[in-house]
Amino acid sequence: MKVVVSVGGSVLSPGDPERVAEHAAVIESLREAGHTVAIVVGGGSTALEYIEVARELGANEMKLDEIGIAATRLNARLLIEALGEPAVQTPPEEYDAAGDALRRGEVAVMGGVAPAQTTDAVSAALAEYVDADLLVYATSVAGVYTADPNESEDAEHIPELSAADLVERIAGIQMNAGAGAPVDLLAAKVIQRSGLRTIVLDGTEPERIARAVETGEHEGTDVLPANGGADPAEWDASGGANE
Ligand code: UTP
Repeated sequence: MKVVVSVGGSVLSPGDPERVAEHAAVIESLREAGHTVAIVVGGGSTALEYIEVARELGANEMKLDEIGIAATRLNARLLIEALGEPAVQTPPEEYDAAGDALRRGEVAVMGGVAPAQTTDAVSAALAEYVDADLLVYATSVAGVYTADPNESEDAEHIPELSAADLVERIAGIQMNAGAGAPVDLLAAKVIQRSGLRTIVLDGTEPERIARAVETGEHEGTDVLPANGGADPAEWDASGGANE
């Protein structure tokens, strides 16, 4: 199966080489099981810190985004170092370069691509570009909720929803300033248009990513394509979640 995993910067490395190594081990185990894997890494606290300082210095939003992109690529380099030889040694800056790497049997680890978006959207676009069978968002939140679980005690976990519902829900959240969305609206729209089978889960224990890919089992949220997608029991290394 062809899988794109989106790993939030704070999920990949909260200043902890062990955690990066654990993510690399999970990717390696998926490859050994016959899966093709591409990763997109977020900027985490490094992006936030640099953007904050540059904002104080008067940088405009485009320049702040460029700084954010640079931070995502820095984080991508940490994972590349942990992966070693099987990874393309610099983060591909275009989708076609990442696609070429997958065709060569290598692991592509990307960061950001262009201003005015986040790596959530890059992950969905890459998954669409390479015709991935599965897109996994490894975030610091355990899936999609009815409200921001960090803000509201009443927030309820949603185990499963359609891509159309995801778009509607995130559009509603983004209208309310300050409320966190598990993935951004552009990403949700790409997921909807491409019918990508998607899982949003807590990636702070990387092993959960492997389990979700191998068995379809997880405690996060399944975003189902319009056709419902294949039963996870039918997933295998050669076939795909959408087949
Ligand atoms: P992230 O993807 O980490 O964004 O990119 P985020 O929203 O802060 O993190 P999550 O989704 O909550 O984990 C960091 C910053 O890099 C820039 C944006 O400024 C973003 O906020 N960026 C990233 C881009 O401009 N374009 C990209 O393609 C990726």
